[in-house]
Formats: sequence, structure tokens, C-alpha cells
Amino acid sequence: MRLDRRHLVRSCLTLPLLMGRSAKAEDNESLRVRASRHARIYGVAVTTEQLLSDVEYRKVIVREAGILVAEGETKRNVLQPQRNLFNFSGTDAILKFAQRNAQLMRGHTLVWHRANPKWLTEEIITTRDEKLLTSYINAVVGRYRGQFNSWDVVNEAIEPEDGLSSGLREQSIWFQAFGETYIETAFHCARAADPKAQLFYNEANLEGDVAWSERRRRATIKLLERLISKGVPIDALGIQGHLKAYRVKYSDDVFSRFLDDVASLGLRILITEFDVADAGGPEDYVQRDADVASLTRRFLDVAFSKPSVIGCLSWGISDKYSWLSRDDRYKWPDGQPSRGLPFDQEFKQKPMWDAMVSAYDKTAL
Ligand code: XIL
Repeated sequence: MRLDRRHLVRSCLTLPLLMGRSAKAEDNESLRVRASRHARIYGVAVTTEQLLSDVEYRKVIVREAGILVAEGETKRNVLQPQRNLFNFSGTDAILKFAQRNAQLMRGHTLVWHRANPKWLTEEIITTRDEKLLTSYINAVVGRYRGQFNSWDVVNEAIEPEDGLSSGLREQSIWFQAFGETYIETAFHCARAADPKAQLFYNEANLEGDVAWSERRRRATIKLLERLISKGVPIDALGIQGHLKAYRVKYSDDVFSRFLDDVASLGLRILITEFDVADAGGPEDYVQRDADVASLTRRFLDVAFSKPSVIGCLSWGISDKYSWLSRDDRYKWPDGQPSRGLPFDQEFKQKPMWDAMVSAYDKTAL
């Protein structure tokens, strides 16, 4: 299934029936239904472990998400831990879950400088064998051909701080083995393996109103221009959208201009990993929740004012499991949970959920 308007409108009509609810707008109606009613999509990054072990979590995922992505189980260190050993069990389980619940599925990520198995890192640098890239994409995308809505083909290939004039990430096994061409090779290969899947370039830290983020935006646009001028089959840009409420300045104008620049290249846009880090904020969590909600509203209002933006996935749904509470860059030093997702640790809707709902409702396509 493709993420095109017709499909979304169709699922808008059928979803309320599937969920046994009337199509009448209700205050508590899920993000999934609301997004779909307005011809957009909302989804969530999930893990099999949580789906299997936590009934509350599972219920919220079924109710709220129209599309799923694995938070880690479709990364290469999990899928191909050894050269001759593939392990699709996690991705298969999430796909099955999605299909049972009439949810779309996306893949994250085929090519990344992180989450690679040790054997690959060693072999790629010594052999520079392009098959280590292409045969993996053939195997994985081919296995799920016709079943995945979209793929993050390449993730985070930009890092201007590495010092290359192109702004490309030099500290990557892929760049070091093949130079820039690994990116186009990966897209061509993915297209051939599943001609119907939407192919994404996915990138981080594109929304900050700070000089280093501006360098990332410029390098990203240049990369996309090069890919398009070479006829590389790319459909969309994934903007991760890991916001930092108290650490990185955000401004509507800067973000808006960037979205316009991407759209003018003829690409669609999806916010792929949305959450809001609250570390460094006031002690009072009620205040932080309000700040997180207001930033969410500003960010998504700008995003959804553009027809090119097809929707948003958040990187998790409940603060109970957020990676923001684990990652050294974003967690609170005193170990308190981060509050950067729409549901709290008890699966209660937070002001962030209301902000997301309002953003989807306000800017119907
Ligand atoms: C993160 C996961 O959430 C963590 O559980 C894992 O330990 C590291 O990766 N950008 C990405 C995602 O593209 O794959 C990352 O996911 C978060 C940042």
C-alpha cells in the first residue's frame, strides 16, 4: 500500500468502521482517525518486546497509530548479526501486528553509519565489496516487497562538522568504502527490490534556528538536488524531528522555509521520529508539559500548513519507554523520566497529545 492521498482518504472512510466507532468527531478520538480523516497519517515507532509484554501499550498503539516502524528491529545489527545469518523475527512480528490492525508499515533503516554488525564493519573497510550493500538491500526489501509502505533507505548521511565541503558524513563505513555513490546505489537497489515502496532519505537536526542546523539544512538540500539531477529514485525526505525544548532554538520561519525548499524539489516530507526532549527545563513538570505541548503545536502547525507534509510518526508513544530517558545526550542527569511523548508513563494523554490533535485538525488538506 502506498501513502498516497487516495489511499489515505479511503482508510479515512474505513478506519472508524474497523475500529467499531462512529465517524462522528469525538473529543477523545484517536490521532490515527483524525489524521486519516484529514488525509494525513500518524504513526509510532514500536518494539516487539513492549507489544508482547504490555497490554496497555498494545491498546494505545492499536488505537492511535495508523503506521508502525520498528524502533530498532529493522536495523542491520539485528537483521544480519552474522554474515550468513539473518534474523527477521522482530520485523516479521511487527509487520504481522500492523497487518492485523490495518496499519501501514515502514522500514528503518537500510543504510546507516550506526547499528551495523561488527563483522560488516570489519569486512566493508577491507574488501570494499559493493555486494555488502546491495545484496543486503535485495534480501531485506525483497522479503517485504509489496508489504512495506516505505523505507528509510539512507539515514543521517550528512555531518558538516566532519569537515567535507559537501557536508557529507565522512565518519561512516559507507562513505569510507565507496564515497558519496553509496547513497545512489542504495536507492537504485531498493527501487528494484520493491518498485511500489516509497523511498526516503532520512535526516536529523534539520529544524534548529542555529548555525550548525543551518549547515545541515544546506547540505541536505544540496544532496537531494544532486540525487534528483542524477535520476536517483527518491520519493521523500524524512525529517526526524527530535526537538530539544530547552537546548536548541526553534523558529517557525526557518523551518517553514526549509520545508518549502524541499517541496520545490518535488519531494514529499514526513516527520519520522518526533519527540521533544525536556531535559534542562524547569523542575515543575506541569510547566514542562505545557512548554513541550506549545513547541509541538508550533512545529506541527508549520509542518501541516504544507501540502507536501504527509504526516508524522513519533519515536514511541509513552514516556514509559522513551529512548530520551536512556540516551546520554537527552536524559535527565538525576534519572527522572523524560516527558517528550504524547502519553505519560501511565498511558494518560498529556497536553502534547492535545497539541498534536489540534495540529492535525487545524490544517486539513
Ligand atoms: C535509537 C533508538 O530509539 C534507541 O533505542 C537505540 O538505542 C539507538 O537508536 N535517530 C534514528 C533512530 O534514526 O534510529 C534512533 O533510534 C534515534 C535517533
